[in-house]
Amino acid sequence: MTSRIVGTGSYLPETVVTNDDLSKIMDTSDEWISSRTGIRERRLVKEETTASMAAEAAKRALENAGVSADEIDLIIVGTITGDYVTPSTACEVQAAIGAEHALAFDLNAACSGFMFALSSAHAYLQANLANAALVIGVETLSKIMDWNDRSTCVLFGDGAGAAVVKRDEVGLSGLDLGSDGAKGMVLACPNRTNNNPLVQTDKALGYTYMDGQEVYKFAVTTVPESIHKAVEHAGLEIGDIKYFALHQANIRIIQSVAKRLKVSVDKFPISLDHCGNISAASVPILLDEMNQKGMLERGDKIVMSGFGGGLTWGTAVLTW
Ligand code: COA
Repeated sequence: MTSRIVGTGSYLPETVVTNDDLSKIMDTSDEWISSRTGIRERRLVKEETTASMAAEAAKRALENAGVSADEIDLIIVGTITGDYVTPSTACEVQAAIGAEHALAFDLNAACSGFMFALSSAHAYLQANLANAALVIGVETLSKIMDWNDRSTCVLFGDGAGAAVVKRDEVGLSGLDLGSDGAKGMVLACPNRTNNNPLVQTDKALGYTYMDGQEVYKFAVTTVPESIHKAVEHAGLEIGDIKYFALHQANIRIIQSVAKRLKVSVDKFPISLDHCGNISAASVPILLDEMNQKGMLERGDKIVMSGFGGGLTWGTAVLTW
């Protein structure tokens, strides 16, 4: 017995911001952004919140799965940009969709958030601690970007993706997850500073800082290794995999991973051109787009892999 994804859903904010739009408010260009990253546009929130996007993606995943909110007994949300420190985004989703029997909590693994949430839901399901889980990746990254730092803010977007997961005979068959906290500061965003009477400070909230070249080196070495380990864990070979659904950070990272795995880049579906990097939401949004386009057939072997802040990485092999 394992755990199977039985439905997917996603939500992108209404407002489209193209590279040309950004070039009107900062010193950048479509040529610089698209040639180095593959990103052409991203969606940014105006009215939407982290919880509203997550709830909408969850409703669409439930509808796609043919599962009612009443049946859901576990909600795990991967996010680093919840609307509140507490309540969690997962508890807000629970209230919004009426999943009153669910245990709900958030998990922080940055761009690996969906993969860590999926593996956690798998563990709950296999331990009979839950029967039907909603696993969500959602981010409002636009609120933690320094909009004066053109080297980071142009890369990221907002959005949500969700999957319904249940116990089944086929589904998840291989996992590889890991963390390297010693390198955490190459991609970091400080939280609020302590302002208690002993340490009073006037420091403002910090924004995201990234050493792009270090993150690039980490991704192109760690991700192929992780994929090899997960595929081996599943008792499969790289050639058995129909699609590699990778975290959508940068087209050059995806091309390099494909080359290192000796796999055609055609097997790596792309959403970063219209989404940018949406951290924990990237993989489930991409999976939902593949599902909606009819690219996935029962029995297909798929790899999903997330990587980023922490540093963290997580790969799953599954049979659709
Ligand atoms: N528009 C125009 N110029 C920009 C720019 C922008 N948005 N951002 C930075 N630049 C400039 C810099 O100021 C610098 O100029 P200088 O040489 O005059 O000092 C120059 O571009 C740096 O360019 P380059 O050396 O080509 O940068 P790069 O090859 O390292 O590319 C990234 C930058 C961010 C695209 C690349 O490092 C990367 O993709 N890293 C991985 C990041 C990532 O995916 N993170 C998330 C993982 S979860």
